[in-house]
Amino acid sequence: MTAKSIGWGKVILLGEHAVVYGYPALAAALDRGVTMVAVPTPAGGPLRLDVPVWDLAVTAGTLDDHHPVGRSLAAIADALGLGRPAVTLVGDAQIPPGAGLGSSAAMAVAVARALLVWAKRPQDAATITEVAAASETLLHGRASGVDVALALAGGLGVFRKSAGLRRLTLAQPLRVLVGSSAEPGATAAMIDRVAEATAASRDDARLAELGALTDTGTAALAGGDLAGLGAAMNRAHTVLATLGVSTPKLDALCGAARAAGAHGAKLTGAGGGGALVAVAPREAEAAVLAAWKAQGVTGFVTVLGR
Ligand code: PMV
Repeated sequence: MTAKSIGWGKVILLGEHAVVYGYPALAAALDRGVTMVAVPTPAGGPLRLDVPVWDLAVTAGTLDDHHPVGRSLAAIADALGLGRPAVTLVGDAQIPPGAGLGSSAAMAVAVARALLVWAKRPQDAATITEVAAASETLLHGRASGVDVALALAGGLGVFRKSAGLRRLTLAQPLRVLVGSSAEPGATAAMIDRVAEATAASRDDARLAELGALTDTGTAALAGGDLAGLGAAMNRAHTVLATLGVSTPKLDALCGAARAAGAHGAKLTGAGGGGALVAVAPREAEAAVLAAWKAQGVTGFVTVLGR
């Protein structure tokens, strides 16, 4: 039996959007993601991808294909120089698609890994990064690479476009609460919105503040100061909202988390819907999840940086 290839989902604790402009982001892989196996298609035909849990079934055609995932699959196969073999990639996912939890990068990494297994080629990290990045650029335009770095490497760390992922070892793993707002996220549109709001300039004070909050929050986390990390997250949510990427629902869910005792809560990922993340004292976790549930959102607790 062929082993499954995995791409991890991720959660950004601080620095989304600013990371596109070269500022640091504090982010971690989730303990779940997308798994993939490449099997020969007995009836022949073009390269296919099936992820039943996402209701997804596409074939890799050309880069002009209608379906974005079909284009992404074509880009990955092309970048690996594989053509269109009679192979079906069968996937499973433990994260929702388009929710700000890095599903597209997790899928791209899992697809690249599974195709390399099928082609009996080495699992070279640089190759996987390059081909997954090609898919992300196709889907989202201006991607920083943070999602791909975590989908591939797992763990927790500070990502910079110029330096990649610097792993951080925590004395204590970090428990966070993650919820999905049930509004679909819109990564490419939100990246465009931030570009408009900032004239796509790294000098914008809000981007600089988001970068500085990553530094403050990372120092707090490294020192075991969860209240300090939470304060940085709360401020980051406000700044992201002024950039136009929050929604009334995300604001309400963050407010509910804080009222239930969380140190901090913010949207995570591109925003415009999608997911949120909170840090809370252990004894407040149940109250935070209940407050989200009261707003129709099922959240989960996950442990980062183990
Ligand atoms: O929505 P997601 O999970 O794709 O996160 C995107 C994070 C951004 O900073 C908005 C974009 C990027 O590529 O860094």
